[in-house]
Amino acid sequence: MKAAKILHELEKEDIRILAAVELGMKKHEMVPIKHISFFARFDLEETEYRLDRVHKIGLLQRNKVGSVAYCLNSEGYDVLALHTLFSKGHIESIGPSLGKGKESDVYRCLTKDNIQVALKLHRLGQTSFRNIRKFRSYVEDRTHTSWLYISRLSAKREYEGLNRVYKLHLRTPKPIAQNRHALVMSIIQGEEISKFDELNNPAQHFNEIIREYKLFFSEAHVIHGDLCEFNILLNPDDQILIIDWPQWEDWNHPNAKELVTRDITNLCAFFKKKGVESNPDEIIQDILVLNPKFRTNL
Ligand SMILES: Nc1ncnc2c1ncn2[C@@H]1O[C@H](COP(=O)(O)OP(=O)(O)OP(=O)(O)O)[C@@H](O)[C@H]1O
Ligand SMILES: [Mg+2]
Repeated sequence: MKAAKILHELEKEDIRILAAVELGMKKHEMVPIKHISFFARFDLEETEYRLDRVHKIGLLQRNKVGSVAYCLNSEGYDVLALHTLFSKGHIESIGPSLGKGKESDVYRCLTKDNIQVALKLHRLGQTSFRNIRKFRSYVEDRTHTSWLYISRLSAKREYEGLNRVYKLHLRTPKPIAQNRHALVMSIIQGEEISKFDELNNPAQHFNEIIREYKLFFSEAHVIHGDLCEFNILLNPDDQILIIDWPQWEDWNHPNAKELVTRDITNLCAFFKKKGVESNPDEIIQDILVLNPKFRTNL
């Protein structure tokens, strides 16, 4: 991973300049140098020297028209998150990729105590961000900062959701730390059930998933919100694991019924292809009535 390699070459002043650009991005699409200088508490000369250096390393984007201004690119944002996680000892080294989701990169890492953990970097809205960069000489709409904001929000949501469900001691990853768009969690072994042509005990897995889903709902008051064959893993002991929690919602969410319906409909459709017949409406009702709010008006 590029950011991990670069991190070791950086001086603490480089990190400070990146953090100053990040601060400036709360208000600006492209942050003018004098604002960066203010946030970094460097004089203009030092600020320009650092910006130039960090830009050459490939962590910033510079505008091409008007007065000089900068914003972080995704590697710059990775560097800031990794720097924080490294300095807190949550990770010490980054290894190979564990998987690539629709909107994330997941890596195998080691902590300072040599424990293996998973690092998930949320990457929302970056495809459109790249397209914008390709077609314009400078970026002028809010899409620019929104990738950074929504990626951070997504990691934060997943961390909160995992904290809520992990307390139940079911088979979900253990949340360890979160910073910006990065989430550190326990590593789990397994393959997505979508990858299996045949499952040994499809009916048993199906029942186990429903049983856990009910516990998430009734005990943690959480709806997964993105339950599908890509987010259910099967470990070598043939046990299921449920991952990918950024889209969770509280069981009292105004769309709770729709979210449960979508999750269970997806699940039943996948298992139907594996020969498991079920009645989704009945299962959805069984789940919803666990919340007193739904008992009277189903
Ligand atoms: N804790 C973990 N341990 C080991 N591998 C993991 C872990 N979390 C995720 N992975 C691997 O990375 C892949 C992508 O993870 P995940 O499903 O959480 O991301 P995603 O699909 O991009 O999420 P999103 O739906 O938020 O875009 C998984 O399919 C899995 O192979
Ligand atoms: Mg996924």
